[in-house]
Parts: sequence; structure tokens; C-alpha cells
Amino acid sequence: MKNHLEKYLLNKIELNQKIPFSDFMNLSLYHPDYGYYTNKATIFGDQGDFITSPITSSIFGECISNEFINIIRYQKTSSILELGGGDGSLAISILKYLKKNKSLPDKYIILEISENLINYQKERVKKELPDDYNIFKWVTNLEEVKINGLVIANEFFDAIPTERFRVKNSKLETLYVESDNQSFNYIWNESSDDFSNELSFFKYLSIEIAKLPSPPPSSRIEDVFWDLMILINSLDIHSPKIDDVMGDVIKSP
Ligand SMILES: C[S@@+](CC[C@H](N)C(=O)[O-])C[C@H]1O[C@@H](n2cnc3c(N)ncnc32)[C@H](O)[C@@H]1O
Repeated sequence: MKNHLEKYLLNKIELNQKIPFSDFMNLSLYHPDYGYYTNKATIFGDQGDFITSPITSSIFGECISNEFINIIRYQKTSSILELGGGDGSLAISILKYLKKNKSLPDKYIILEISENLINYQKERVKKELPDDYNIFKWVTNLEEVKINGLVIANEFFDAIPTERFRVKNSKLETLYVESDNQSFNYIWNESSDDFSNELSFFKYLSIEIAKLPSPPPSSRIEDVFWDLMILINSLDIHSPKIDDVMGDVIKSP
């Protein structure tokens, strides 16, 4: 039996014959009614599907906190912005440690796309840090954010929908998803002008790759995180005094 998401995707593919991989990933993770991050009741931890470092141990957040403490020693840095709050573990371990070390930030902002997860994070923070709840602020995009501070992102970039490209027989191809009405299948098609933005980025990337000592194999797949670039650009524009951006996944190998 197909679930709601599968039925929705099959219907969308039937109407369009195929959809870009980025749309498939975006809808699967973030469809307002059926998406994984937007709707699944238990995602993180023993009862969920996966764990991340801050869930495993508070040491992860404590190490990042030490970085914040170092920074505020020599610069007037007052805020922390976390991209993608998950189950709130990272925020909680950081705030607890900074409180213990008398280095609380003025604001701890969490960028989170999923309303379900925002509510979950709020509940946890209220329970674990009732006296410091007012330090926290939740936002759904970076337009409203102006900070002078530290930006952190753990396992965030790989949750951003990506466009996938490869070079075959000297031609650039884009990954799509099609269906036989039962299952989903990948299909590579020659890239069209619809991807002009991504293509110009890819051309830039090809130049960079060409500078590497050994040429990449022709089967190499490039991921272009268009949404991420928009996000990072808006960070640059609105937060010119960011001290640091910390993340664990920048580009897939
Ligand atoms: C893999 S989880 C990582 C959670 C947490 N950082 C950790 O390490 O446990 C990715 C998180 O990013 C959020 N997210 C993904 N795309 C987002 C976007 N464009 N804006 C805001 N949050 C987003 C997801 O809802 C989820 O909370």
C-alpha cells in the first residue's frame, strides 16, 4: 500500500512525466502535509530513525561553546545562530555549558523550517532551560535575522535539496525521477536551459575541478545546493559581522 507522500509524488510525476531530483528530495523531506521533517512524529534518537553527534553526547555542544567563549574574549560577539535545530539537543547542551561558564549569549537564534520541530524544540528548551527560554528565538528564514555572532550548522547542509549533474560523453546531464506507477526510478537527461543558474555554477565548478592534480572520473556526480547558496548569500547580506561559520558537510566527495 502506498502512503500519502508516495501517492502525491506518483501523481506529480504522472502529470509531468518526470521531476528533477531536487523537487523529489524537497517534497519528500519538506512537503507541508506529508514531508519527513515536517510531519514524522519521531525522527531522532533511539525511538526514531537516526542520531547525530549532539544527541549522542553533550561534549559536542561543549566544544562549540568553548569556541564561542574564545571568540567573545577578543571580539564583541553576542549571538549564536544555529541552522536546522533538529531535536534541540545542540542548543540545549551549548546554553547549559555557556551558563555554567557565565558566557551566555544575548540571543540564541534557531533557523528551522519544520513547524513540528520548532514546537518540539520549544518544549524541550522550556523543560531543560526554563529560566533562559527568553534568550531563544526561532526563525523560518534568514531575511529577518541580523546578528553579530557565531553561526553553527551540524548535519544541516546534507538536508538541503540538491540538483544532481554529471558529465557523460562530453554532455552535461541532470538527474530526474520518473515512475512506472509502482516504483520511482532515476533517469539522467541532457541538461536543459531550465537549469541555467545551476549550469553557470557548474561551469564555474568545472573550472575549479580542472585545476585539481588528477581529472575526476567521468562518472563523478556533482551536487549543486542551490537553496543553500541562496541561504548563505542572505547571511552575507544581513549579517556582515559574522565571526565564523561552522559546518560538517560542505560538499559531497
Ligand atoms: C539532519 S537534521 C540535523 C539536526 C541537528 N543540527 C543535529 O545535529 O542534531 C537537519 C535539520 O535541518 C532542518 N532544515 C532543513 N532544511 C532547512 C531549511 N532550509 N531551513 C531551516 N531548517 C532546515 C531540518 O528540519 C532538521 O531540523
